[in-house]
Amino acid sequence: MNSSATKKKKPQTSLKNKSILLGVSGGVAAYKAIELCRRLRDEEASVSVVMTDASKNFVTPLSLEVASMHKVFSSLYEEPMAHITLPQQAELMVIAPATANIIGKFANGIADDLLSTCFLSFSGKTVIAPSMNWRMYENRIFRQNLEKLTSLGVIQVGPGQGSLACGEEGPGRMAEIPDIIDAVRTAFSKRDLEHEKIVVTAGPTREYLDPVRFISNRSSGKMGFAIAKAARNRGADVTLISGPTSLAAPAGMRFIQVETALEMAEAVEKEVRSGASALIMAAAVADFSPSEKSGTKIEKAGELLIRLRQTPDIISSVAAGKGKPFIIGFAAETGARVERAREKMKKKKMDMVVFNDVTEAGAGFDLDTNRVTIIDKKGETGLELMSKDSVAEAILDRFSEIKA
Ligand code: CTP
Repeated sequence: MNSSATKKKKPQTSLKNKSILLGVSGGVAAYKAIELCRRLRDEEASVSVVMTDASKNFVTPLSLEVASMHKVFSSLYEEPMAHITLPQQAELMVIAPATANIIGKFANGIADDLLSTCFLSFSGKTVIAPSMNWRMYENRIFRQNLEKLTSLGVIQVGPGQGSLACGEEGPGRMAEIPDIIDAVRTAFSKRDLEHEKIVVTAGPTREYLDPVRFISNRSSGKMGFAIAKAARNRGADVTLISGPTSLAAPAGMRFIQVETALEMAEAVEKEVRSGASALIMAAAVADFSPSEKSGTKIEKAGELLIRLRQTPDIISSVAAGKGKPFIIGFAAETGARVERAREKMKKKKMDMVVFNDVTEAGAGFDLDTNRVTIIDKKGETGLELMSKDSVAEAILDRFSEIKA
């Protein structure tokens, strides 16, 4: 660990000689599979490609054959044993882009083409990079299919938010190639958190003035959800306690929804006291709450004075209690105030604090990326701007290193 705040990439799992089966399904992003294939080969991985018939409308088998330097397969019948031999030779399957259709087939055990049949006969890990219109991505049937796959251990990367091929904006854009490569690396990394019981908090809290109005903040919950999912994928027993967000309940963990800082404090206390080894406080807990909550809607009266009272500090009370878990807190500051984050760590008796400057480009609220500095008792590491999924992995990497 370096003791200065120089920008540093996290240590990477090598993909050298790894055997990857790349599935390409029929979305507009299929052309990006060529670039993905190339980047995987740059990492010295061996890549075989299976295409669905629909994907050939967007990219030619020849392009992927050149990019992978291997024969490309797509017919179930041309080489009758390919659906068995290809998965047997692969250590990891990566589906990019993964359309709503192929995700639906995977989730329901449908095997009516070479790619879906390969998935069914494959026993290793699979990474999927969903890509579709935002309406399809938000469809409840699709979400159930996706949740089913992730709860069974399929690793999801993306989608990102942004302009879609149809000209609309929204979630559904295939994850960027570096993020997919990162997910591939993670898939090859070990399950190092198998004996950890981790409580993660996420999102904002709401502090009510009356039955319809509340004070809150801009937290989207993305960072906390990314940490909870990454910890689950690395084998931890995870409880996610979240304030109100628009994110779907992640599968494969206990999910507790709360609204106020007080409710969050109570839920954290209960979960931690039942034997957690770590508490990761990614939630943007409101620091103040109205001293009085009106039982009825407050009426207009020219001027309104609201008296606020400090909320209980969750980290401090957990740190002061018996059987203190390893505590990781966040310090979202306006400006490069790493010192302030370090002071917070000491004051609240945290073991690690993740600092970010919310005014920096790419590191603010409701984004899919963040640039953080991880500070612990031994030093600090400044990371590059990266996806929140990668930030989550980096935080857990450091936690795992310290615990080892
Ligand atoms: N936190 C907490 N309980 C609170 C408020 C915050 O446990 N009532 C946690 C947050 O989840 C975060 C860490 O404390 O992990 C730091 O939060 P932050 O609001 O930045 O720190 P404060 O000490 O409240 O300082 P300030 O608001 O003055 O910056």
